[in-house]
Amino acid sequence: MIPISPRLLCCASMLKGDFICDIGTDHAYLPAYLIQSGKAKQVIATDVKQGPLDSAKGTLKRYHVEQDIKLVLSDGFDKVNSKGITDVVIAGMGGETIRDILAAPKAAFLKKGVNLVLQPMTKAEILRPWLAENGFSISKEIAVKDTHVYTVIQASYTGDTEPLTPVQCYCGKLRHSDPLTKIYLAGVQERLHTKAAGLRESGSNSEADEIRSLLNEINEWLNPNRR
Ligand SMILES: C[S@@+](CC[C@H](N)C(=O)[O-])C[C@H]1O[C@@H](n2cnc3c(N)ncnc32)[C@H](O)[C@@H]1O
Repeated sequence: MIPISPRLLCCASMLKGDFICDIGTDHAYLPAYLIQSGKAKQVIATDVKQGPLDSAKGTLKRYHVEQDIKLVLSDGFDKVNSKGITDVVIAGMGGETIRDILAAPKAAFLKKGVNLVLQPMTKAEILRPWLAENGFSISKEIAVKDTHVYTVIQASYTGDTEPLTPVQCYCGKLRHSDPLTKIYLAGVQERLHTKAAGLRESGSNSEADEIRSLLNEINEWLNPNRR
């Protein structure tokens, strides 16, 4: 059995087509799972470092899926032949790194109807507004329980550019009613509290007040009936 985590399974559940590009594959568990389960016919799995690709090679051999998965040493999409790719998954990296990969010139093919599945480990509040301001709409977002609670974002290019409010940057399209959303946002709120306390200590009271009001808005978002 391929040791696929709930986080990666959630990413797999949001894929739509059968030709997947996995950017930053590391061990290549997701590509191996996608081929073994029949969810994908072809996968391009990339990594910016050779070490992870060597480990990926071992995984493909172990699970007899070498034929349908192409391993590519590439920074983002730099060395990727994008012809025919239906879906792109970028998981297990910081939100800023994911944004930089999506903003690179070689990522322009994403505008041709590619389904994006993004799983930022941190800084999702930087990735979401970038998507919105660059014509990508988030269609779905799920909080998933793994070693922590993570968010998985599904998005595609629509061309609509709409700036997000601060609360939208932090809450995205997560479901208000999902208990895991509360747990995910509790972590976000804790980090904001720490930041506000630091700002207050250093005398930046107005910035600390801004974070305080954002925290209130996140609470209101989580409890819409109490407004
Ligand atoms: C923590 S691993 C995540 C592996 C897998 N995607 C997952 O979610 O379990 C992140 C991987 O992304 C790779 N990576 C980081 N920046 C990258 C980039 N610009 N292009 C391709 N791979 C990158 C790293 O080398 C590392 O192997």
